[in-house]
Amino acid sequence: KRLKDVQSRVLIGTEFPSGFSTLSDSAQFLSTATPEFNLVTAENCMKWDALEPSQNNFNWNEADKLVNWAKANNYQIHGHTFVWHSQAPGWIQNLSASAMESAMNNHIDKVMGRYKGQILVWDVANEVFEENGSYRNSFWYRTMGKSFIEKAFIRARAADPSAKLIYNDYNLEYTGPKSDAAYNMLKDFKNRGIPVDGIGFQMHLDIQYAIDYDDFARNMQRFADLGLEIYVTEMDVRISSNPSSAELEKQASYYKNIIEKCMAQPAVKAIQVWGFTDKYSWVPQTFPGRDNALIFDRNYNPKPAYYAFQAAL
Ligand code: XIL
Repeated sequence: KRLKDVQSRVLIGTEFPSGFSTLSDSAQFLSTATPEFNLVTAENCMKWDALEPSQNNFNWNEADKLVNWAKANNYQIHGHTFVWHSQAPGWIQNLSASAMESAMNNHIDKVMGRYKGQILVWDVANEVFEENGSYRNSFWYRTMGKSFIEKAFIRARAADPSAKLIYNDYNLEYTGPKSDAAYNMLKDFKNRGIPVDGIGFQMHLDIQYAIDYDDFARNMQRFADLGLEIYVTEMDVRISSNPSSAELEKQASYYKNIIEKCMAQPAVKAIQVWGFTDKYSWVPQTFPGRDNALIFDRNYNPKPAYYAFQAAL
């Protein structure tokens, strides 16, 4: 059975790169992906710099293509992302606090308004913490203080009340200062009625680093105990550029163990990979010497990780 058909409780997603419909091999890309998943996110085309490259001039081209494709193929859509330090255009980074807040409000209103009722879940805030749990020293934080985060959530709730609103970050899969910081922020949001529905675990992993899966399960549980939904938003598991079969098996065990823990946690609503074929992945450009992090190889053949994923669902 295809990944999306093995069970029905959890949505199974992937990102699509910008220009997915005009890739040189888009027929093969789409015929592999389409039956496998039921949730899609934009790798880049719904980021701020792509949607609003100059102030209040919106470029909907690629985002519309993705939304239309999703609707035509019965996919849910995961929106990615609003307040983030990266892939934000220069014009917004040097505004005054009040001008930045107005620009943020306008961006959230326009983007969520355009796709109102059509996006299941939005990554409202992305990567606001450092590894040590302090707030990241981003242009948002320097200008607006930590208030930019809750203001973005409040605005997003008003712009599309039907969308689930989540906080998304990496290195949250184990307990520690960063995960504690996210937990404390979301607990405070819940206590003060700031509208937040869930947490996104990006889940960018590497077999070089061991994972304590029980710790991951306990960590998910404390977020679930706050009444939050849990989304795995960007899973990939890096191995070497020229992997041995032992590495491929080890990678498969990471997928299997993580997904088993997710399936045992009722708060988990979706499991999404950051691309499905190693042919299109951010990993080799970002992590020198690491590659092959996904579940299909460059020729669109399923890897041991695919079968492990399927077995764990
Ligand atoms: C990455 C994309 O995959 C790349 O194409 C782009 O150049 C940089 O961003 N966390 C996120 C994603 O939230 O938006 C990032 O995506 C990967 C890490």
